[in-house]
This record gives sequence, C-alpha cells and structure tokens, in this order.
Amino acid sequence: MWDGAIHHLDLQALAPLTHHAEMDSHLDSLIFKLRHHPKYPSLFESVYGSSDISGERILKSLSAFMLTLISSDSKYDQMLRGEVNFSDPEKKGYHKFKQHCASCHTEPLFTNHSFANNGLPPDVLLQDSGRYKITHQPLDAFLFKVPTLRNIAWSYPYMHDGRFKRLKDVMKHYRQGIAHSATLDPILQTPPVLNDSDQVELIAFLHTLSDSNFIRNTQYHYPKDFFFKLIF
Ligand code: HEC
Repeated sequence: MWDGAIHHLDLQALAPLTHHAEMDSHLDSLIFKLRHHPKYPSLFESVYGSSDISGERILKSLSAFMLTLISSDSKYDQMLRGEVNFSDPEKKGYHKFKQHCASCHTEPLFTNHSFANNGLPPDVLLQDSGRYKITHQPLDAFLFKVPTLRNIAWSYPYMHDGRFKRLKDVMKHYRQGIAHSATLDPILQTPPVLNDSDQVELIAFLHTLSDSNFIRNTQYHYPKDFFFKLIF
C-alpha cells in the first residue's frame, strides 16, 4: 500500500479482496466459493494436509504465490550480467537516472523502501494525505511509498492515484510540475534540469526495466482450467 498501512505480506491480499473500490468481496464468501470449487479442496489438502479452506490458509497461499513473482531478466538485468550492451540513448538515460532519480528509486529494486513527497499537487477531491493518514505526523503529510520502477512501461497509470497515463507525463511532472510544500523532498526542491533529449533517453532507460519473460511467464497466468462459476 502506498501509505504503508500494511506490514505483513500475509495481510496484503486482504485489502484488495475486501475493499469496495477493488474486489469488494468478503473473506467468508471467498471461503465458500473455494470450498465448493471442484479443484481447490484437493489442492489445499495436498499443501496443508487437510482439505479445510480457511481465511488464514487462503492468505498464506496468496503470499506464497506472490513470493514467486521475481522479475530478474530485463535488459537492465542482462546488461548487469554482461549478456547485452545498452544502446547509446539507454546508456545516457541510465547516467541521468543515477544523477536525478536513483536516490529514491535505488537499484536494484528501484526503491529505497522509504516514503517521500515527490511534489505531486494534492488532488483536492481525493484529499489523500498519504503516510500522514497512518501516522498523523505533520512531517508525513503527502509522503507516499517510493514505488519500484521495474516493469514500469506496463504498470500505467502512474502514481498512487493513477493520475498519469504515460511515462512522458511523469517526466513532465519531474521537469515542470513539482508543487512546493512543507514536506517536499529536499532533493526535488530544485527540480532536475532535463532537456527534451534527456527525457527521451531517460524513458529509453526506463524501458530497459521491462522483463517480458516475466510478464509472459504462464506460471503467473490465471489457470484457465480453474475457471468455475457458482450458480445459485
Ligand atoms: C525524492 C524522491 C524521488 C525522486 C528523486 C524521484 N522519485 Fe519518482 N517517485 C517517488 C515517489 C514517492 C513516487 C510515488 C508518488 C505518489 O504516487 O504519490 C514516485 C513515482 C514515480 C513513478 C510512478 C511509479 C508508479 O508505479 O506509478 C515514476 C515512473 C517515477 N517516479 C520516475 C522517476 C524518475 C524518472 C525520476 C528522476 C527524474 C524520479 N522518479 C525521481 C519519489 C521520487
């Protein structure tokens, strides 16, 4: 979660399953559905030793699955392993990235695992004060978790509220859109000076973080033969 409300991976799935803006379900109805599914009870038995399907087992299984989601075969990873070379624009973009972005989006996961205010003008309708909502510390107002940038080309729309559709829009924000406020990160007090070709090169670098082997890995796809609709 972008405000850091959840501390344990086993609990992470609970919010998207139950939040009304996401799957809007209840753990009880999920348990009911899985208990009446033709395949899940025997799978739970093979993993847990009994076919009982409980909320705890569902959440543990989901976090065990999430732990298998490792993306480590992007062009960036291949370059680090010496298997490929970056093109000229990618190299220049990487250099600019290290200069202006890497203090927060730190390699190799492209996050420093902290919270920051990167100068997004607050949305007056959403009134999302980020980390402040959790800690009630004024210094945490408008701080959000620094997200990873791995596979960023595919994970639009961008930012905690999805306000930007394209990487170009994100770049425009860092170049010209930074809003000054009491908690704006000191690094961004002076916005990065980037011209149009710097922007193109930075985006070329961000594309090297795309790992198509990971995205297309069928192990991570929904198993089609599991599709089962409950009819009441
Ligand atoms: C001071 C820390 C900081 C710096 C420096 C910084 N970022 Fe960010 N970045 C953030 C934070 C925090 C967010 C999430 C903000 C939010 O959603 O409210 C973010 C979000 C993003 C996103 C959207 C990610 C997503 O999944 O939606 C992209 C892309 C991005 N930054 C790229 C960059 C680039 C490129 C640079 C350098 C020009 C940069 N950032 C510099 C802190 C930083």
